[in-house]
Amino acid sequence: MKITFLGHAAVLIEGSKTVIIDPFLTGNPQATMSVNDLPKIDFIVVTHGHGDHIGDTVEIAKKFGSTVVTNFEIGLYLQKKGIDKVHTMHIGGRATVDGVMFKLTPALHGSGIVEDGEIIYGGNPAGVVIGLDHRRVYHAGDTGLTKDMELLSYENIDVAFLPIGGNYTMDVDDAVLAAKMISPKIVVPMHYNTWDPIKTDPEKFCEKVSEIGTCECKILKPGDSLEV
Ligand code: NI
Ligand code: MN
Repeated sequence: MKITFLGHAAVLIEGSKTVIIDPFLTGNPQATMSVNDLPKIDFIVVTHGHGDHIGDTVEIAKKFGSTVVTNFEIGLYLQKKGIDKVHTMHIGGRATVDGVMFKLTPALHGSGIVEDGEIIYGGNPAGVVIGLDHRRVYHAGDTGLTKDMELLSYENIDVAFLPIGGNYTMDVDDAVLAAKMISPKIVVPMHYNTWDPIKTDPEKFCEKVSEIGTCECKILKPGDSLEV
């Protein structure tokens, strides 16, 4: 399975199916790829309603006929935008759709969708565990540190994407504690350096993660991939 970091919180998984998580490419100062560079996308996961996570969901779903996996409220919002293949779930729920396993996990954050200066209710924010080709990927979404992450150690995560930028989410020190609780094989930092309020040093994160000694830390530049 090939996993590509697209910048900010956007992640592309390519195996027997293709899954893109939080596909914020247009207007993403870190993105090196645009919608036109994407392979055919089977699934889009939207962790919460913020613009830097919904991103290009509508355009990608319409282009490829992708199924969007998200919470009920965002699902309804996207259906109104003309997306017909929406699989809605809620936190704690697990579902296998066309051979791909999705589980929504708790996230401490907001999920309002801003449109024309108004906020539309976007349900509760989530993280997601994705099971594909005998691999498990966890994408935390935007979240603060929560002791519930301990439960993710039971999911046998191969690769975990954790926000480290602070201000809106965990910072480096909190994300190190999260990595310790989740104990994935590989941890990849995300949601940093896109804008000033989330500036941080990913090398510091990886130094501290290596002190734990149980998981490997990999910094992926936007456009970089890893194979698992
Ligand atoms: Ni957010
Ligand atoms: Mn965000």
